[in-house]
This record gives sequence, structure tokens and C-alpha cells, in this order.
Amino acid sequence: MSTYYSLKVTAVSALTPSSVAITLTIPEDLKDKFTFNAGQHISLKQTIDGEEVRRAYSISSAPTATEMTVGIKKVEDGTFSPWANDALKSGDTIEVMPPYGRFIFKPTGEAQHIVAFAAGSGITPIMSIAYSVLESHPDNTFVLVYGNQSPEETMYHQEILDLNNKYTDRFYVQFLYSRSREEDALFGRIDGSTVNLILKNKFKDRSFDHFYLCGPEGMINTVKETLSNNKIDKKRVHSELFTTTSKKETTVSEGQTEIEVTLDDEVFTFVMDRKKLVLDAVLKEDIDAPYSCQGGVCSTCIARVTEGKAEMEKNQILTDSEIEEGFILTCQSHPLTPVLKIDYDDV
Ligand code: FES
Repeated sequence: MSTYYSLKVTAVSALTPSSVAITLTIPEDLKDKFTFNAGQHISLKQTIDGEEVRRAYSISSAPTATEMTVGIKKVEDGTFSPWANDALKSGDTIEVMPPYGRFIFKPTGEAQHIVAFAAGSGITPIMSIAYSVLESHPDNTFVLVYGNQSPEETMYHQEILDLNNKYTDRFYVQFLYSRSREEDALFGRIDGSTVNLILKNKFKDRSFDHFYLCGPEGMINTVKETLSNNKIDKKRVHSELFTTTSKKETTVSEGQTEIEVTLDDEVFTFVMDRKKLVLDAVLKEDIDAPYSCQGGVCSTCIARVTEGKAEMEKNQILTDSEIEEGFILTCQSHPLTPVLKIDYDDV
């Protein structure tokens, strides 16, 4: 299930002083496996200082592009991102798991009006969505609201200006900078007033079909709240967190649980401590379950509970109806019952 393929890196180019775009070639025989919807991500795997590290990165290129590109911002105390920024070179190969993720744009064949709010490296899936929106229908429009500290720290700055020149009537960008005053940009961060400016002023005559939000939790919550105040149906609001901090207190009690895991049509059973996380316990048993971020933001580790109950520490991905259907993020889940059966194949 969590199969990785060796892909060749064909370019590593600087996007800003602290981020790079990594371009990968997809060989002909893997093209089907690596077909994706705009907004999805891939997981990259690398051994760094003797430890295997997996990280999920959003694809920034168009689904129609011949090569696949991801943007990686260097996280100062990180492991994978400093390696990708400083050591990875064109010509290297890297282990890659095919695209996945639920934050997607799918063309419908009808004209659609889309708006996206992105901050920092949250732009990466939004770039792919913008390409897909603009390429997939001649009457589609795309409004991008994009916050950064300064133009120099703005990932994909030139590509965005190129889109602006290419699709003059259908693409609009509103930059915001929190540390630099620039002509044609707002000063500050994306907040409720920015959302209202777009909805009630600049595009007051446009009815947007879908809203895409990507960035840190604070921005996403503020934009969601303002959209809700503007009576936007939450089914039309799609979001992806790039960092998350909210962890809820769980009601997990002391004790052991008997776990049954179905993965790739095989069934495994073992006993785990309820204070531990399900994914950690599964990996400790050498079961090759899918995972990437281990932080509740990427959705790779989803499984369905078929018997028993589990409780998540954090969840910003699964909707209420998905939770009712029994889906859990295994990297965030503790068992609550003496028996817990989960199925990674039925998702
Ligand atoms: S591994 Fe990313 S959400 Fe669980």
C-alpha cells in the first residue's frame, strides 16, 4: 500500500533564499500511478543521518505537465527540508509515494469561479489548482490572495506574475506583505478584512463556486469564520493545514487493547497500550502501514474502524460525516475499547 518508487530529480531550483522547487521525471511505466488531481501531495522518503525520514509535500505543477514539481521550504529545526534545500541535487534519485490527498480541484466541464487564500508555503497546492482551473475551461476564473513577509520570501512569485500576464482577464492576484510596504500589495496578514475586501468590494458581483485555503491554522480559522459570516456554505470551502497546533485533551483510560489491522488483504493482530498512538504501535509491529507527516496534517494514514472505538488527539482533515463513517487518522488515534479493528484497504 505504501509503495515508494525511485524517481530521478531533474532540477533543484531556488524559489526564495529559503525554499527550492524540486522537479521529478515520471517514467512512462509509472505515468498512470503518478496521475493526480490538482491539490494533492506526494510523500518523499530519504535516509538522513542513518534515520528514515518521510515527508509529504504538495505538488505545485499542473496535472497536465510532463514533469512533477514540489516546493520545499526550509524549516530551521527540520530534518528533511534542510537536506532537500542544501544537499539534494539534480541527477539524484529519491523515493516517492504516488500522489494522494483530499484537498483537490476537479474540473466539472462547466465554467467555475474559484478563489484561494494562501500564506507562505501554503501556495504549493494552490499553484497546481490555479493551473488546473485556468487550463480546464476557457471561462474559468481564479482569484489568488497570497500573504508573505516580503516579495523576496514569496514562493512562485515569478510564476504568479506569468499567470497574471497570460490570463489577464481570468486571473487576479492580491499580494499581502507583513514586513514590506509595496505598491499594489496590501500591508499585513490575511485576516477577516481581507476576505471581506475580496467578497464585498473587489469581486462583489462575482459568485464564487469554491474557496481553497492553505496555510497556518490561524489564517485558515480566520478565513473560514469570515466566509461563514458571509453565509458561504462550508461544503464549498476546502482547506489544508500546513502546520497545526491544536491538540485536544483525550479521554483515553489506562489499559490494553487487542488490535486487528487489515492491510493489503492481510490481517495482523497484536496488543497495544491505549496511551500509545495506533500508527506508532502498528509500525512497531513492522506492519508497512501508510504514513507520512505523523502530525495530523497530510491524511496518508487514514483507516476505517470496523469494530470498537478510537479517539483522535488532533483532526483538521476528516469531516464530521467521515468520522461518522468510521474514518480515523491512525497517527492521531488512541484505542478506547478492549478490541479495535481497523482497515487500511477500505478508505
Ligand atoms: S501521517 Fe499525516 S495525518 Fe497521519
